[in-house]
Amino acid sequence: MAITVLVSGAKGRMGQEVVRAVNDAHGIEVVGLVDIGDDLARAIATTKPQVMVDFTVPDAAMGNIRTALAHRVAPVVGTTGISAADREEVEALCQNNSTPCLIAPNFALGAVLMMRFAKEAAQYFPDAEVIEMHHEKKLDAPSGTAALTAEMIAQGRMDAKPIELPAGAFEKIPGSRGGKAAGDVPVHSVRLPGFVASQMVIFGGPGQTLTIRHDSIDRASFMPGVIHAIRRIVSLEGSGKLIYGLENLL
Ligand SMILES: NC(=O)c1ccc[n+]([C@@H]2O[C@H](COP(=O)([O-])OP(=O)(O)OC[C@H]3O[C@@H](n4cnc5c(N)ncnc54)[C@H](O)[C@@H]3O)[C@@H](O)[C@H]2O)c1
Repeated sequence: MAITVLVSGAKGRMGQEVVRAVNDAHGIEVVGLVDIGDDLARAIATTKPQVMVDFTVPDAAMGNIRTALAHRVAPVVGTTGISAADREEVEALCQNNSTPCLIAPNFALGAVLMMRFAKEAAQYFPDAEVIEMHHEKKLDAPSGTAALTAEMIAQGRMDAKPIELPAGAFEKIPGSRGGKAAGDVPVHSVRLPGFVASQMVIFGGPGQTLTIRHDSIDRASFMPGVIHAIRRIVSLEGSGKLIYGLENLL
């Protein structure tokens, strides 16, 4: 029996790519497509999917997740900008509905490895900054990947402490030192035409720097991760767990 999938945000850049990838994948089929203005609850009731893949906008994603979980449909969510407080709500909804959910800020395997390597490096190089670069149409900043990378750097430092800037250091232009993410890791967001999704994590130590860089140059880079997530989330049916980050499903 094929795994049945409803794609939310089906007319968007990522949504269209997901529809193509699912149609090409063995043992998975698209049974429903929704976009802005469509009634998700009704689409779920008529198409009865096992999984909802959501690539929409930050304002819409939480409502879609609530609706899917209320119908015991497992959400696989790529939409970024979902806050830690939102994730707490999703975790409770997963438990209450005995339905799993995956929220992954980045489905590209290379990006998942970049974050893993960054966590490992942070133990030896606690001083790190993140520069993320995305296309000019991206709504949220910093990217979900940058926020998660900062969390992983903060965890990876263990007892190693980052340096403190000299007393009296100041910004001549507000924001020039970037925004502070988890662990006070500075994050700089670049928005320019030409990028899909790129990120550099720069570590500094006495007399040396280490740069880890990942580039998604095509949205196809995200699709193996999405297909893997669809297959794995179905195997967790009934578990009521929220999984945050594709690395926890590999
Ligand atoms: N996790 C990842 O690997 C990854 C990769 C790329 C993009 N993203 C994220 O995916 C999201 C979508 O990106 P995109 O480039 O496809 O954007 P997009 O603007 O091309 O597409 C978004 C789509 O969502 C639709 N939409 C808006 N409100 C909706 C609603 N209430 N219900 C259903 N559909 C609705 C829009 O009409 C549009 O078709 C963004 O949050 C982006 O940051 C995540």
